Amino acid sequence: MIDQAKVRVLLLESIHRDAVSRLEAEGYHVESVRNALDESELLERIPGVHLLGIRSKTKVTAKVLEAADSLVAIGAFCIGTDQIDLPAASAAGVAVFNAPFSNTRSVVELAIAEIISMTRRLTEKNALMHEGVWDKSADGAHEIRGRRLGIVGYGNIGTQLSVLAENLGLHVSFYDTADKLALSNAHRCASLEELLETSDIVTLHVDGRPGNAGFFGAEQFKRMRPGALFLNLSRGIVVDHVALRDALSSGHIAGAAVDVFPKEPKGRGDEFVSELRGLPNVILTPHIGGSTEEAQSDIGDFVANKLAHFVADGNTTLSVNLPGVALPEQSGMSRIVHVHINTPGVLANVNSILAKHHVNVEGQLLSTRGEYGYLITDISGGYSDEVLDQLRGMEQTVRLRVLS
Ligand SMILES: NC(=O)c1ccc[n+]([C@@H]2O[C@H](COP(=O)([O-])OP(=O)(O)OC[C@H]3O[C@@H](n4cnc5c(N)ncnc54)[C@H](O)[C@@H]3O)[C@@H](O)[C@H]2O)c1
Repeated sequence: MIDQAKVRVLLLESIHRDAVSRLEAEGYHVESVRNALDESELLERIPGVHLLGIRSKTKVTAKVLEAADSLVAIGAFCIGTDQIDLPAASAAGVAVFNAPFSNTRSVVELAIAEIISMTRRLTEKNALMHEGVWDKSADGAHEIRGRRLGIVGYGNIGTQLSVLAENLGLHVSFYDTADKLALSNAHRCASLEELLETSDIVTLHVDGRPGNAGFFGAEQFKRMRPGALFLNLSRGIVVDHVALRDALSSGHIAGAAVDVFPKEPKGRGDEFVSELRGLPNVILTPHIGGSTEEAQSDIGDFVANKLAHFVADGNTTLSVNLPGVALPEQSGMSRIVHVHINTPGVLANVNSILAKHHVNVEGQLLSTRGEYGYLITDISGGYSDEVLDQLRGMEQTVRLRVLS
């Protein structure tokens, strides 16, 4: 059992102060480090740490996890979790949490800003003004009201954009490969082709599954209406940028806003190389769709909350690697959380050990995901060390924690 006051937290990469305050409020001892740590530095710092917080630069390798003798959870204070060896984390019974929804609103607001900017040709007017050219004309400038926005990928971002866009007077169509409920007056297209042929503005919000690489190319641009606008704030790999440049240069596509690129510079100051540089009415942004102070604060709060709940009540809702289980807390109970290999008979074995020792089960919830299962059991009254030893000794047991 971990004593709350003895929980040691190591936060790397200048994680937002909201996260620090949230974890300190739990009584945890929080140590914040400004930069990312490399593997050897992390190997030195990780022993004795119960909760590790990182952003995208720190790599949590299998070797680090092996050295992490006390670690129970990792918080990725960002969206992606590629920097963590997830199979190794699961095999160690370490839960991983991230913040998949915290920057949704930020992406949606950038898309709306870009749709209006391109429709009014603001980037061109702005560039001319900086060159001293006063070009007061309405040519090619439009209102967005009454235009049709086609959203490809109707997930967290696509649906929120749908609602805001309708409130601004746009008509909305969407296409998603999965069955999705149309919000408000949005029209569900039966095919991508239908969406492309009927939309004035096409915006991509699909996920980065391997099958989506290069799915939007010359054929799709050709299907779009002449003079239509195009946005991609999803993943760089989904769009063929040579085809986009050709569609823009020929005038078939009147403008584009692109936030994500197949190859992005590694760091600040590195040259940005792209076929799309220098084209008029094209807005290029350095993958900042989700980068706002509000999103950062929300990420801090969201992930810190997940970590605190996992320590206190074993709740794994929205864990990246472990099955999601949330059992409401009951006062006066002890709680056993059990990460195990998902094979038949685990639940029966656990309960037979508890029954053999006259331990009364007051609440129990099990969920499995792939190779692993996660079981929360609330028990009343006392229990002996032998019970825990036998549960730990089960061949399927990966990790066992007792919370009270
Ligand atoms: N620019 C940024 O800074 C930024 C920030 C956050 C998220 N993103 C990206 O935005 C995208 C959307 O994020 P989300 O949270 O809404 O994801 P999500 O998983 O909630 O939604 C994606 C939707 O796309 C659908 N889809 C997948 N492939 C498709 C295809 N080929 N055709 C039609 N529909 C398809 C899925 O069924 C799903 O409904 C992701 O790629 C994410 O990485 C970018």
